[in-house]
Amino acid sequence: EIRPGLRLSPDRPVSVIAHRGASEAAPEHTLAAYRRAIDEGADALECDVRLTADGHLVCVHDRRVNRTSNGRGAVSALELADLAALDFGSWKKEGPDEDPYESPDQEESDRTSVLTLERLLQLVADAPRPVGLAIETKHPSRWAGQVEARLLQLLEKYRPVTPVRVMSFSARSLHRIRAAAPHIPTVYLMSLLLPRHRDGRLPPGVAVAGPSIRILRARPEYVERAHRLGNEVYAWTVNEPEDVELCVRLGVDAVITNRPQQVLAQLR
Ligand code: G3P
Ligand code: CA
Repeated sequence: EIRPGLRLSPDRPVSVIAHRGASEAAPEHTLAAYRRAIDEGADALECDVRLTADGHLVCVHDRRVNRTSNGRGAVSALELADLAALDFGSWKKEGPDEDPYESPDQEESDRTSVLTLERLLQLVADAPRPVGLAIETKHPSRWAGQVEARLLQLLEKYRPVTPVRVMSFSARSLHRIRAAAPHIPTVYLMSLLLPRHRDGRLPPGVAVAGPSIRILRARPEYVERAHRLGNEVYAWTVNEPEDVELCVRLGVDAVITNRPQQVLAQLR
């Protein structure tokens, strides 16, 4: 089993994980956002995965596609072909500026269509430098293990040589991953710090704590407690310079950010 302590970037005090890609600059979870994050130097890419009605894992945050596409409906009720017909890029466009990551020779569909996890794994495999992956399982309880099974199948197929973390707010989802693939470190996400976790303890076998930055602002002592038990700490979503500074001061292992370029510049 890979023990905690494995860092995504041993040469920097804190690793930088691009949240939904470089999602402040480009539409979240699109190839353009991930290409930009790789270009900007992010150590790893974060993505949320959901299962479509016909069993494909796609990178979409919300239960429905309404906010991030020109379509409507729940991802779980749509097939991949339905999602592929939607535009996941235009909602973000502001002003006339051309996005250099949307080069005109790219296919229109490639730029704005729904991103499958398979395509993201391919992007990482083809990247000009090593880049890790932090994959978050969404709605895992609805599918009773199918999200995790499909995810592990794809990881087995692509076998990324760079670090992979599986993250979830669901301890049950992480348990399923560990039971089938104990070598993959798991990250337990927390938007609230429940009393049973305040001493740094995590669900059995979980290697990394994933507190929101709000938790760390209120309870900075949490990081030391987690570290004392041998757990790493990845904080989200860390966009403001003062929060980056706080994370560095507390010895947080990785920050998950919408602004990889700015955070990397601050850390330099
Ligand atoms: O990386 C953790 C963070 O992404 C969890 O919150 O809602 O952005 O998926 P959410
Ligand atoms: Ca997420």
